[in-house]
Amino acid sequence: MQKHILEIIYLIASVTFIGGLKFLGHPSTARRGNLLAAFGMTFAIFGTIFLYQTEQGSHLKNLPFIFLALGIGTLLGFIAAKKVQMTAMPEMVSLFNGMGGACAMLISIIEFQHIHEKSPLIILAGLIIGSISFSGSIVAWGKLSGKIKDLNLKFQQYISILLLLVIVYFAYDVSCLDAASMATSFYTLLALSLLYGVLFVFPIGGADMPVVISLLNSFTGVAAACGGFLYDNKVMLVGGILVGSAGTLLTIVMCNAMNRSLLNVLIGNFGGNAAASNSGNSGIQGNIKELTASDAAILMKYAKKVVIVPGYGLAVAQAQHVVHELEMLLESEGIEVKYAIHPVAGRMPGHMNVLLAESNVSYDKLVEMEEINPEFTTTDVVLVVGANDVVNPAAKTDPSSPIYGMPILDVESAQHVIVNKRSMKAGYAGIENELFYHPKTSMLFGDAKKALTQLVSEIKALG
Ligand code: TAP
Repeated sequence: MQKHILEIIYLIASVTFIGGLKFLGHPSTARRGNLLAAFGMTFAIFGTIFLYQTEQGSHLKNLPFIFLALGIGTLLGFIAAKKVQMTAMPEMVSLFNGMGGACAMLISIIEFQHIHEKSPLIILAGLIIGSISFSGSIVAWGKLSGKIKDLNLKFQQYISILLLLVIVYFAYDVSCLDAASMATSFYTLLALSLLYGVLFVFPIGGADMPVVISLLNSFTGVAAACGGFLYDNKVMLVGGILVGSAGTLLTIVMCNAMNRSLLNVLIGNFGGNAAASNSGNSGIQGNIKELTASDAAILMKYAKKVVIVPGYGLAVAQAQHVVHELEMLLESEGIEVKYAIHPVAGRMPGHMNVLLAESNVSYDKLVEMEEINPEFTTTDVVLVVGANDVVNPAAKTDPSSPIYGMPILDVESAQHVIVNKRSMKAGYAGIENELFYHPKTSMLFGDAKKALTQLVSEIKALG
């Protein structure tokens, strides 16, 4: 009887995961989606704790330890999520993703003793994918938070391929050996997989991190699904498959956005020439033109159409509310205003959408890159706020650039471009931006929140 109730709980939880994922598809319902899926997960966890029975009819043991671990995990997760700054969200997501990979890895280590009673293939797949996801996500967390720098080993590509082949060999070796003699190969396999995760993410520089983050996300899903197979646990299987497939789809979307092939990612030489160009000095010739907030106000007030390009700096400055105020002010003057959303602007997928939704910018004002690009020719003023790589023309013109081939926002097709940032410093890819030297471009230096607040006052002062 208890077994059947548990199956029903798993079914309900699986439905909440699917419903949650559907709701996550739109910013207006995303919060509800998250809560729904979290409710389903909680339901499944408590169902397992109280109703799970082994074939011999015994229940889970060590309940005090289980509740202690649950309590510690919940508390840490709650505090981390409460304290995290919006700009540090991607790092946190990476870290949490790594924890998922670590769980799958630990399951395989524990189940290793029963490797021949259960499915060796699933245990080994969980071990390899979980370990790569764990160590890779930790390196990604370090890189996103600036604690770890890009490291480009010579022949990186070949080392990665060789390591993958060695991993496949050891996996085969472990599955052929008897239980007594397989431990050394099993733990060697674990160490090699962890090493591969590190080597796989270490050299990824430039603007290529989004692809890797979503790929690691899908790895964790697949590793969790392996656990579901292993324990014949439907909810773990469904959850893992959903994360795995959503992560894979996101990886494809990100690859398209960056114009990269997935094969490049898998052999770990993605953005390999980034480090070489990271000096931030590509020797661009030309002068920069600076303008004041009052000059910018005049340009904008007499425009018919203004496109705002938000980037990572908008999130850093927390300028989303003032940018919305600027938008409403311009609209009250009869000026058409839109936002140009690049798929990898900011530091996580949908970063700009989430940020602007926070200040109640209407969703129909957010226009995707493919749709807005043809509109720049009919735009009077583009206001770039804390964006850099996503408007860097080197992606189109400089084959030696680490972002070469990435589709960008064609802002220089507009009549005037105003770029707001604090200095001439590079963005995430670490490279100079020719746009800042373009004859149509004027720089409005300063923190985005302060600069936009001043801009709003100046426009109001014009009457
Ligand atoms: P970035 O190229 O990173 O440029 C952001 C710019 O904002 C910087 O040049 C910085 O210049 C400026 N800035 C920082 N703080 C500011 C402030 N308080 N006020 C005004 N400006 C400020 O940003 P982007 O154009 O959004 O491009 C995103 C990059 O991140 C891409 O390379 C992308 O591949 C990468 N990335 C994206 C993701 C995802 S999924 N979105 C994940 C990981 C990495 P100053 O220092 O001079 O102010």
